Amino acid sequence: MTNHPFPIKQANTLNIRFDDENNAYSNNYSDIYFQPSIGLDEKTHVFLGGNNLPKKWLEEENFTIVETGFGTGLNFLLTLQKWNKTSTSDQHLHFISCELHPLNKQQLHMALSQFPQLSQYSQLLINNYPTNPLYGFHRLHFKTLNTTLTLIIGDATQGLKQLNAKIDAWYLDGFAPSKNPDLWSENLFKVIANLSHQGTTVATYTVARKIRNNLEAAGFAIKKIKGFGQKREMLTATMTQEYKLIEKQPWAQTFKAKKAKIYTIIGAGIAGLTLAQKLCDAGKQVTLIDRQKQPCLETSGNPQAMIMPSFTLNDSVEARFYLSAFLYAIRHYSPKNYHDSGVYELAFNDKQKQWQDKLLENFYLPKSLVKKFQQGLLYPTAGWLDTQGHAKSVFEQLQQSPNFIYRQAEINAIEHQSNLWQLKQDNAVIYTTDCLVLANGIALKKLLPNYELPITPKHGQISYFKSNSTDKSISDCPHIQLNKGYITPNWNGEQTMGATFDHIAEENWFKTPLVNDDHWRRNTELWKNTPYEQALAKITPDKSRAGIRVTTPDHLPICGAVIDQQQFKAGYHDIKHGKTWKQYPQPQHNKNLYILTGLGSRGFTSAPILAESLCNQILGTTQVLTNEMQKAINPNRFLFKNLKKSR
Ligand SMILES: Cc1cc2nc3c(=O)[nH]c(=O)nc-3n(C[C@H](O)[C@H](O)[C@H](O)COP(=O)(O)OP(=O)(O)OC[C@H]3O[C@@H](n4cnc5c(N)ncnc54)[C@H](O)[C@@H]3O)c2cc1C
Ligand SMILES: C[S@@+](CC[C@H](N)C(=O)[O-])C[C@H]1O[C@@H](n2cnc3c(N)ncnc32)[C@H](O)[C@@H]1O
Repeated sequence: MTNHPFPIKQANTLNIRFDDENNAYSNNYSDIYFQPSIGLDEKTHVFLGGNNLPKKWLEEENFTIVETGFGTGLNFLLTLQKWNKTSTSDQHLHFISCELHPLNKQQLHMALSQFPQLSQYSQLLINNYPTNPLYGFHRLHFKTLNTTLTLIIGDATQGLKQLNAKIDAWYLDGFAPSKNPDLWSENLFKVIANLSHQGTTVATYTVARKIRNNLEAAGFAIKKIKGFGQKREMLTATMTQEYKLIEKQPWAQTFKAKKAKIYTIIGAGIAGLTLAQKLCDAGKQVTLIDRQKQPCLETSGNPQAMIMPSFTLNDSVEARFYLSAFLYAIRHYSPKNYHDSGVYELAFNDKQKQWQDKLLENFYLPKSLVKKFQQGLLYPTAGWLDTQGHAKSVFEQLQQSPNFIYRQAEINAIEHQSNLWQLKQDNAVIYTTDCLVLANGIALKKLLPNYELPITPKHGQISYFKSNSTDKSISDCPHIQLNKGYITPNWNGEQTMGATFDHIAEENWFKTPLVNDDHWRRNTELWKNTPYEQALAKITPDKSRAGIRVTTPDHLPICGAVIDQQQFKAGYHDIKHGKTWKQYPQPQHNKNLYILTGLGSRGFTSAPILAESLCNQILGTTQVLTNEMQKAINPNRFLFKNLKKSR
């Protein structure tokens, strides 16, 4: 097993118990959770009052709070209630909370039922709360309340080291320091300082000397104030300085867009469309440009796209990324368009069987995510997206927004002049913008001819057939069936089979992909030596559709800021000698330019979290991805690795 802070497994849930008066206790920490009779008033006094809330957030467009110890979520709900009553529609609250032993949904329901005065909010939380909390970041959007909740399931110190955010207020609520010293360590306070800015405040029940010392050592000015009710004291603190952790190798730096008013995206596939949706949701002015008359008509235009996690046999950043992406995607897509049919991954040979057994053995995943099933594995919550239904409804919503413009145009060149990006068609400037995102698949290479990026296009095609033209084992299966290829379930009498994966000669990289005549034979080859082989051989397919996957050498997408590569090469030229003492320079951001490509074979699973991540980066809001994942998808990683290994 791994000692990663977020191993791929379900977290150990909290051992909570209620006494006859409904007071809640933690068996793990032999401490009290809450007493319904005084719980809410005390929490409001300590955490909201101690941080001078709501007064402190009244002036802020975005306000970010972190709590150590989510527990039953009461602090979150009280904050949400106050936020709803005091904030305006152009403000946004981000509440981040760490929890090592999350309650399960049932325990949460039991605990929160003691507080009917919060039921309007607790119902929302319970409905959105992860059924089987896995370690890692879980982001929940409460759009009607202009609030985002990021639950960090894992140890607070380790978890917060993975967070990219600027925090305005801290709620330190982690049982008594004597009973749970890990949640009050010096190390945790260093991390807290690093995520704070001048003026950030802290509130906590405890006035223990060790905690006061740790806060002061981290740069906070502390103040004891009157505690709740009979309690004499509690603690507040304010950050007095700008604290900045110096990264020796800041190659994976993220960049907020500077002074941008218009955010323009070239490419309206699933990546560009989802980013437009995220930026518009954040109240920004967005222009989406595509050569097609509406979004998702090229590679993103297959009718049924499979959505599922993608595991590697060992715990890896790739597996963690795709798991987070999957969990985020199935929340993001509307149930109207996302069909959680389950994906049945068949194992027809010993090698595949062994792989599946090892997967279950290595990861202790909840059965709601993956379990043994017939001749293989079932991923019960995985499924498929009606891509055209989804694209149509997002596009209609966007078009209703006064902040959104769609333009049909093929951009042949881009140029930066007088702080603006000029978008050109046949040498004429047809549009200018101050922030530009290229989300146009492989064609991005044509717009950035001198930018080194190891992406390669792969040709792929799916075939359609009528359900009534085949065997019941194929037509009646409610799940997506996955072997080397996949067969989607019957949808309005039709099914699709995919998908081939073929090399494209360089001279054809930018040409429209053509359907090969032998598409059916090539797709059915993926089912050779399986019980389906015979049945598939009898089908006459209706039609086929071809697209281009943009692949990367490490199977991870590319998402982030474009930097000045020449400056970077000069600054990092000696990194191969591994000078650990040396401070390497920060890369230079190339004028509010960002890219989002390389989504490979899993674009519909990864696009929602990538769009959220890029939107967070561009706007400088709390990152949805862990620092480790952000590094792993950073466009700069290839250049850095090459410089590191070149000898
Ligand atoms: C056969 C096949 C089956 C697949 N099956 C699945 C699946 O089941 N599940 C899954 O998750 N993924 C699947 N994929 C992968 C998935 O389709 C891609 O990962 C995803 O569509 C990539 O989206 P994108 O927005 O990055 O790119 P695209 O969809 O390629 O969008 C790029 C957009 O940019 C526009 N554009 C390009 N150049 C310009 C320009 N110069 N000016 C203006 N506009 C421009 C194009 O018109 C296009 O709309 C499959 C892929 C193939 C080929
Ligand atoms: C006092 S309770 C929090 C109460 C909670 N804020 C509420 O409103 O219900 C403390 C919580 O800290 C969690 N915890 C303990 N050690 C932790 C750690 N190292 N990292 C993160 N959470 C931890 C416990 O599981 C417990 O849920």
